[in-house]
Amino acid sequence: MKDFDPTNMSADDWDELHFPRPEENDFDRVVESAISRRGFLAGVVAFGSGAAAMGAGLLTSTAAQAVGASRFAFTPIPAQTDGTVHVPEGYEWKMLMRWGDPLFSEADGYDLTDGGSVENSDKIFGENTDGMETFSFQGHELIAINHEYPNRKINLPAAQEGVPASANDVLKLQNIQGVTVMEIKEGPEGWVAVKDSPFNRRIHHNTPMRIAGPAAGHELLKTESDPTGSAALGTMNNCGSGKTPWGTYLTCEENFNGYFGSSDENASYDQKVADGMKRYGIKAESWNGYESFDPRFDTSKNPNEPHRAGWIVEIDPTKPDSTPVKHTGLGRFKHENAEVALAADGRVVVYMGDDERGEYLYKFISNAAYAPGVDTENLLNNGTLFVAKFNDDMSGEWLPLTPDSTGMDAAEILIFTRMAASAVGGTTMDRPEWVASSPVAVEAYCCLTNNKNRGVKPNAGGDDTSANGPNPRDANKYGQIVRWRPANEDHAATGFDWDLYVMAGNPTVHSDDRAGSANVNEGNLFNSPDGMAIDSTGLVWIQTDGKDNNEEDFAGNGNNQMLVGDPATGEIVRFMTGPNGCEVTGLAWSTDLRTMFVGIQHPGSNWPDGGTPRSSVIAIKRTDNGLVG
Ligand code: FEO
Ligand code: CA
Ligand code: CA
Repeated sequence: MKDFDPTNMSADDWDELHFPRPEENDFDRVVESAISRRGFLAGVVAFGSGAAAMGAGLLTSTAAQAVGASRFAFTPIPAQTDGTVHVPEGYEWKMLMRWGDPLFSEADGYDLTDGGSVENSDKIFGENTDGMETFSFQGHELIAINHEYPNRKINLPAAQEGVPASANDVLKLQNIQGVTVMEIKEGPEGWVAVKDSPFNRRIHHNTPMRIAGPAAGHELLKTESDPTGSAALGTMNNCGSGKTPWGTYLTCEENFNGYFGSSDENASYDQKVADGMKRYGIKAESWNGYESFDPRFDTSKNPNEPHRAGWIVEIDPTKPDSTPVKHTGLGRFKHENAEVALAADGRVVVYMGDDERGEYLYKFISNAAYAPGVDTENLLNNGTLFVAKFNDDMSGEWLPLTPDSTGMDAAEILIFTRMAASAVGGTTMDRPEWVASSPVAVEAYCCLTNNKNRGVKPNAGGDDTSANGPNPRDANKYGQIVRWRPANEDHAATGFDWDLYVMAGNPTVHSDDRAGSANVNEGNLFNSPDGMAIDSTGLVWIQTDGKDNNEEDFAGNGNNQMLVGDPATGEIVRFMTGPNGCEVTGLAWSTDLRTMFVGIQHPGSNWPDGGTPRSSVIAIKRTDNGLVG
């Protein structure tokens, strides 16, 4: 178990501290359980038309190299442990934007040595960059980028151990999170942000939002300051992203629970509220200490405020004055990202993971179809939510979450989606992170990042977490990527077939199923797949948020990284490595597909400038300006 620094921890760390898991001390049992499933694992057949990605020994590293030569336009790079970014020969990276860089000239000279002034903290590029999407609008290149959470010791260097000591400290933290929308432009020196562009916008924890959809106005969403239950303030813990076919940005509220605390440890709540707090991990002690200075985040005073977070928010990047919309139709949980696909008949399908150990994978299908020019106002609200159920025989089904199936009313299914999924018996997953669907095949992938609780303890709803088809390893340290093909080649189908695209592992250390699947080898070691996107040619780009100590179970993994996989052969190769301590997260392509924008979150060293570590977005290009996606 890692040592926690309670003043400078990630949301995962914070959850870990508050929901401690037993150590894996029963080693023999864990190994025995893993080995007993090897027969099943060895029998898995991949969808790919060539060699099987899974299936022991079918794809050796030598074979992979031979197959890969035709598909990847670069020589894979080795693992790295240093403090900078590496890309293959023939590629280069440049800085696009760092935490603290001004979006408006008013914020020129923003000084990070004291964490920056509160006055200008909403006029700069925010902290901890995460999901991002690009948009082309009337000749302008726009990019929307999430800022997931703060690094308080860095952001509040004057405060004792990074704990907010004033309302201004809280306000500064609130301002540097959320979302940036900005215009970018490519010049002779590379891509730059266009300072003072009319499209530039910071959306943060106090930006007015509209709550829309079937749960809007529900009693559980009403607060003293908003008796309508339809006008929330702010979006928080903006993790992954999505993009609609009509050109809007979707930002996903993940670990919102950690932002709420209670000034009264003994506060009592209505049973429904208390049950929700338990399932969603809302405790008296918060992660960031807002409640001491901002009563909105004090659940003893505003017990319904947490119900107004945990949603997917739609932002129109082309209209800087537009009000972001929280879509209750997409359910409330720890949203990772929102992968939008269209069904055969044009209905909108949104795949969504709930990133917590033993929680679920969801999809939404709209009632109405999308076509260019239709009114999109209610497309993401009027429809049905489903939870995934995977069977061990490689089939699966999407179970609808309806009043009939769950025994809950329609609005409460959306507000307490986790309970609805438990009620119908979805498959508990190993922390679903990003979902990506292919633009060239009717199939989708989900990163299941890791789950030390698999087979060890139930989820917060008491659901069984014994090993199951797509989550086959107890105490899963490495993670895997599951892939499914909807029946009838239609994302609206309720049936699907699935396989595992890859099981991360370490064949240099282990010889049981912790070695990983056959497409993991000494040359591409990685753990904890997290971010993911599929490019226009169908290649699967995989970003990691794992252990980077490079020893023991993780020997040879090096720093967090970005790899790329061929869906047909299962081959996976390393494309980029980040500076030590960082997570690589967020990937978008320029409209001309000649640049990849990649996020470097919370670098641990003094990257990129040798001083204060700064989360940043970089631009990666081929030196011959060729296509990169
Ligand atoms: Fe914010 Fe699950 O990553
Ligand atoms: Ca993530
Ligand atoms: Ca993660």
